Amino acid sequence: MRSRIGPEPFKIKAVEPMRLPDRSVREEALVRADYNLFGLRSEEVYVDLLTDSGTGAMSAAQWAALMMGDEAYAGARSFYALKDAVKEILGFDYVIPAHQGRGAENVLFGTLCKEGDIIPFNMPFDTTMAHILNVGARPVDCVVDEAFDLASDYPFKGNVDIGKLEAVINQYGKENIPLIMVTVTNNSGGGQPVSLQNIRDVSQVSHKYGIPFFLDAARMAENAYFIKMREPSCADMSLKEIVRAMADAADGLAVSCKKDPLVNIGGMITCRNEEMYHALLPRTILYEGFATYGGLAGRDLQALAQGLFEMTDEEYMSHRVAQVKHLGELLDEAGVPFVKPAGGHAIFVDAASFLPHIPQRLFPADVLAAEVYIEGAVRGIGLGALAFATTDPETGFEVLPKLELFRLAVPRRTYTNSHMEYVAEVVNDVYRRRDYIAYGLELAYEPPVKGIRHFLGKLRPKKL
Ligand code: F0G
Repeated sequence: MRSRIGPEPFKIKAVEPMRLPDRSVREEALVRADYNLFGLRSEEVYVDLLTDSGTGAMSAAQWAALMMGDEAYAGARSFYALKDAVKEILGFDYVIPAHQGRGAENVLFGTLCKEGDIIPFNMPFDTTMAHILNVGARPVDCVVDEAFDLASDYPFKGNVDIGKLEAVINQYGKENIPLIMVTVTNNSGGGQPVSLQNIRDVSQVSHKYGIPFFLDAARMAENAYFIKMREPSCADMSLKEIVRAMADAADGLAVSCKKDPLVNIGGMITCRNEEMYHALLPRTILYEGFATYGGLAGRDLQALAQGLFEMTDEEYMSHRVAQVKHLGELLDEAGVPFVKPAGGHAIFVDAASFLPHIPQRLFPADVLAAEVYIEGAVRGIGLGALAFATTDPETGFEVLPKLELFRLAVPRRTYTNSHMEYVAEVVNDVYRRRDYIAYGLELAYEPPVKGIRHFLGKLRPKKL
């Protein structure tokens, strides 16, 4: 049964025209892009669900805040507006702005990690994993087993298995673990939430061993919404209170502010410990900018300060999550397999069971991305072997990831419910003709840096 979806809780003040390119244009564009949808021009796309990152619409209040931007190199008023918002919403005394999430990751992992270190995680996302690998450290997944049972409707599939976490700490030794990190929501595992209880349990373990605990908090407000809906002890808390309770359990946050904080560019690290703050500053200055702007214009800091307040608006968030769920229900009606329950920011189609005749080494998730683009100029992203294959440190062999997913990520406040209906029709049409898709993809070019080949790789079709 389809649930009822309310109308968008906003009206549209500025419009950006978009049109459906002809099929012949799409076919040529795909070949020109080497079957990698990152190579498309955005005019070649109709509904763009490549990512929910930096693609949202700012509010009237955020556009107004831009004019209040203070562009001073050091000590800008806009930095203090951000610092106050962080203190009020998240409770941290220290904030380091960064140009986006991966800038924050570079500062954090580059400062805290050394060659051979281990970082226990639920699951890291792509650039997070790439940064860890490129400083010679290694993330170890400690997510609950339910994360890999795609059909299970377990409410908190992003949770850390506390037994696995303690086993990893005991196996590698706390001296080789500079931090523990938990991604909320778990993007690599289907946009699935982590419960407040689980965040608190991880916090307790981290303190028992004296290891700092960070949240990768890009989608902290969506996570808080799921906590409110699914964790009975939190049902009466406001979103703002839940976000705060999540933050209170952590020693720090690394945030891509291009997601829940509702800006088109920006990131930050927050922490409570003065010593940690000072340790992180030199690398901030080398790679991002001075401590009070971190690669952002004053106006960006100002819009971000405003976005932090807006992300916990319950009207907005309940529509956002319902819109993604609506897309899932429309796909479900045609039998398209995807990670259940629907994620907070995206539907993650199970490409392995959508295209079971394509072996994982021929990148079925990316074949599906190409086919959905050809069908209706909808752009999603393959998140499977192309993005997440790793190398076994002992044998040197390639290890394919457990999940082979095709993600349709929904930008915030940007598309309407009727766009979701169009997307579902397109994907459902591909599903009906899935047995006739008779090719896989192989790499024609791979960049020489670990963890980023889905951005830069060139692919070519290979007949099955
Ligand atoms: N952490 C998570 C959980 C993310 O999803 C991302 C980015 C980052 C960190 C890095 O942030 O892009 O600002 O440098 N995810 C985007 C996505 C790109 O499409 O999911 P960034």
